[in-house]
Amino acid sequence: MEKKLLVGITGASGAPYAVAFLRLLKELSVTSEVVISRAGEEVLKHETGLSVEELSELTSRVYREDEISAPPASGSAPYRGMVIVPCTMGTLSAIAQGAARNLLQRAADVMLKERKPLVLVVRETPFNLIHLRNMLSAAEAGAVIYPAMPAFYHRPKDLREMVEFFVRRLAEFLGLEVRNLKRWEGL
Ligand SMILES: Cc1cc2nc3c(=O)[nH]c(=O)nc-3n(C[C@H](O)[C@H](O)[C@H](O)COP(=O)(O)O)c2cc1C
Repeated sequence: MEKKLLVGITGASGAPYAVAFLRLLKELSVTSEVVISRAGEEVLKHETGLSVEELSELTSRVYREDEISAPPASGSAPYRGMVIVPCTMGTLSAIAQGAARNLLQRAADVMLKERKPLVLVVRETPFNLIHLRNMLSAAEAGAVIYPAMPAFYHRPKDLREMVEFFVRRLAEFLGLEVRNLKRWEGL
């Protein structure tokens, strides 16, 4: 059975991470499918200039949030796991409370019930107490909180390098074999 990775894209700032991550999955020959929220579509356009149609060239399939009867809604769909990149506080809250109101949130809920990996690349600053509690609840239910916090120790020359390093570490975290990752070798 083919095991695709499901990528959720919500309306948090950080759409360039989603695009770079999908490009990397393609480079690694990992099949992906995308579920994008309505806010995700808007922020994607604003931050990257890409439409959903253009995004669909980087993945096998793009589902809109209202396609509630699509395969990601069911635990029987053959996904190896799901990464939500970037993940809003709103979607985090829906996941943490088990209150799925669209296909993206339902797919995340399914990952938790099926005990499959669910990685949330949350983005907000600063966090309020509700955000912190929701992150704790989601982590207790099995999700991994993987904040969009860029590193500097690899000395990125520009934003592209910063984003690229982040998504390569994310892919490696998911167990994918990533080449050309600058590793820390001590001072
Ligand atoms: C340009 C822009 C940037 C945003 N950045 C964030 C963010 O970093 N984190 C967040 O939680 N919400 C952010 N929002 C707000 C969400 O898009 C909004 O709460 C939306 O309803 C979330 O819906 P979704 O979780 O279904 O994508 C941003 C909105 C816009 C327009």
